[in-house]
Amino acid sequence: MPQPSHNHTFPLDPWRVCETGLDTANNFLNETLFALGNGYIGLRGCHEEGYSGPAGQSLDGTYLNGFYESEPIVYPEGAYGLARNNQFMLNVPNAKGIELWIGDERFDLAQGTVAAYKRELDFRTGVLARSLEWTSPGGKRVALASRRVVAFDDKHLFAIDYHVTPLNFSGPLRLVSQVDGAVKNQEAGDDPRVGSAVSGPTLRLVALEQGGTTSSITQRTHNSGFVLVSAIDTDVSCCGAVQVRAYQAGQVAGQSFELHAGQGETVRLTKFGVYYSSRDYAKQELAALAQEALAQARANGFEALCTRQAAYLADFWARADVEIAGDDALQQGIHFNQFHLLQSVGRDGKTNIAAKGVTGEGYEGHYFWDTEIYIFPFFLYSKPEIARKLLDYRYAGLAQARERARQMSHAKGALYPWRTIAGEECSAYYPAGTAQYHINADIAYSIKLYYEATGDLDFMAQAGAEIVLETARIWLGIGSYDRGGRFCINEVTGPDEYTALVNNNYYTNAMARMHLRFAADMLDTIRSERAGDFARIASATSLDEGEAAEWRRAANVMALPYDAALGIHEQDDSFLSKKVWDFAATPKENYPLLLNYHPLVIYRHQVCKQADVVLALLLLSDQFTLDDKKRDFDYYEAVTTHDSSLSSCIFSIIASEVGYHDKAYDYFMETARLDLDDTHGNTHYGVHTAAMAGTWMGVAYGFGGMRVTGGELRFAPTLPIKWTHYQFQVHIRGALLRIRVEQGAAEYTLMNGEALQFAHHGRTISLTSAAPSARIDRKHAA
Ligand code: BGC
Repeated sequence: MPQPSHNHTFPLDPWRVCETGLDTANNFLNETLFALGNGYIGLRGCHEEGYSGPAGQSLDGTYLNGFYESEPIVYPEGAYGLARNNQFMLNVPNAKGIELWIGDERFDLAQGTVAAYKRELDFRTGVLARSLEWTSPGGKRVALASRRVVAFDDKHLFAIDYHVTPLNFSGPLRLVSQVDGAVKNQEAGDDPRVGSAVSGPTLRLVALEQGGTTSSITQRTHNSGFVLVSAIDTDVSCCGAVQVRAYQAGQVAGQSFELHAGQGETVRLTKFGVYYSSRDYAKQELAALAQEALAQARANGFEALCTRQAAYLADFWARADVEIAGDDALQQGIHFNQFHLLQSVGRDGKTNIAAKGVTGEGYEGHYFWDTEIYIFPFFLYSKPEIARKLLDYRYAGLAQARERARQMSHAKGALYPWRTIAGEECSAYYPAGTAQYHINADIAYSIKLYYEATGDLDFMAQAGAEIVLETARIWLGIGSYDRGGRFCINEVTGPDEYTALVNNNYYTNAMARMHLRFAADMLDTIRSERAGDFARIASATSLDEGEAAEWRRAANVMALPYDAALGIHEQDDSFLSKKVWDFAATPKENYPLLLNYHPLVIYRHQVCKQADVVLALLLLSDQFTLDDKKRDFDYYEAVTTHDSSLSSCIFSIIASEVGYHDKAYDYFMETARLDLDDTHGNTHYGVHTAAMAGTWMGVAYGFGGMRVTGGELRFAPTLPIKWTHYQFQVHIRGALLRIRVEQGAAEYTLMNGEALQFAHHGRTISLTSAAPSARIDRKHAA
């Protein structure tokens, strides 16, 4: 299991992360942990003034979810059908920069002396606040207090409020507020999880405009053809006169504010920044939209923005809060994760949630199956309107998925990309990329989950059914019946990326079976409930009469490898015949294996990067007995490295189910503080959004024992020994249910909605608005 890379600790506080002294050793990491975002804009938690600390210890990144450049993928040796272009999230102009000059000395946290330093990110206000005292090398002492907000209610807007107070002098002070367009992306090294392959500038200057207090840069991407306007408006006030000068240098524009500051008198700077791009609006409108937004933000003011921000978060926490009593470290980790998920998720139907959110360039801003299998449940049960937007995003990509299917020689159907931003397949390494055909079933699974939780037949008729049927067709395209009559799916890669290009990956086949049946059932439902929509879908997809019957036939004889001697499900046809990896002889520093062994060496062994069969045990829970689950867990745990951050949460959930309570707790702990404790040693490149959402699943599915199968909701809660109680909430079928588990009792409360029925350890519970609560003593539990 990966080890924490250093000693990094924040005081344990359920609602905050706080750096209580300037921690230069963890500067790079803290830039990720203190990042702010609103699902569109992402500002790494870098200091406004820049940081001249050691090289490689900072990445002053600013990202816009879904705003990308595209580049041809260069293969030294090509092959037909390989992904042609990469898309990567751009580092866009840094609009938060503020230079502070005291006479001719420039403020820089890497110089001078820092005292009384505190930086805090509050999950209830959404404000990143920093306060400190700094003594310049020349002996001038100032107090600084700043607050930064990225607006949840306006995706284009962020703001900074910045106060400077001279403590031991009076004299000239200069503040320079700028937008810096001379930015570039981080260069990738040998680690496939980091950065893009592009070096050098990616944005070309189109225009640079300045008004009284505003500065704006218009740029264009080279290949993707997007135009971006990044604009700021700055106001400085103090006791005396302020001289404002426009300032330009290359692709940097801003205003400088010169004044005479009196000792003990506070100078206040307020800055608003906006980003508008042609992914959302017509090119010719962008500049005007940016100016209007700035004028509006300035008129509303910084404090009003903070009030709206807090109100947005109050609503979020009222609906989504997971409470754990008796374990402060976990409580902090869980809130941190929930907060970052909210900051990361695209919610405009055109964007999705990247593996690292908008906090860093790891995995290039790509969207993966992480969304559907790990992140979707959190939003579905906490903020269903966002979950719906994630599905809209997939519907918007259906035409490209059809095109990709044709490139892959499938005459019918749609194949979604393994990794992408705007819908085009971007995986340059197909064995662990395009070969993961399970992405199609993962998307269908999330649509099924959505339908079962919301009953939203309108969505199914308008979009969902079409995605499900088009993606289902691919299984018939890549599978075939063997001599024994089994339906086999060959040459695919399952979730475990340490095993590639195999036949009958258990997870893939089992999920394909679910998918095929769901597609056929859904068509029946639409045909009987929405005849008009059925006719439209059938005609748009050239659906054949007998197609659904063919899907059912394949599903019914799906090959699902099982080893009777071991009593376990085989990960694929060949997995168990391979040699087990020699874990005893593998030094700790050789993990993750992917950085230390050629893929073929790894592929030849029984060794897993992450949950594969074990994930099927969760997603298709009712298809396995408890004994099956236990044996599979025992076997695969012994050969799994958890080198992927997507692994521990799943092992925690199944450990809970099979009664391995200590393991459940340990794996959960590993997931819940994965980024806060940097246990994978790469959080500086961005947070791990799938693992963050895995924490929510760990509580609800793991300790809460929640499952939704065949539309039925059930719980089987257990309470870890260290906890006094925990509580989480689930939006389902128009109701909001709170589940509270204490020592000796579980309490279910209908917070909203008319009625809800579910099971508690097999016993049926019915709540209504008239009788909204049920408390069940442990002695009554099965
Ligand atoms: C995992 C994949 C995952 C990707 C992005 C990889 O390390 O093996 O399952 O989709 O990271 O998070």
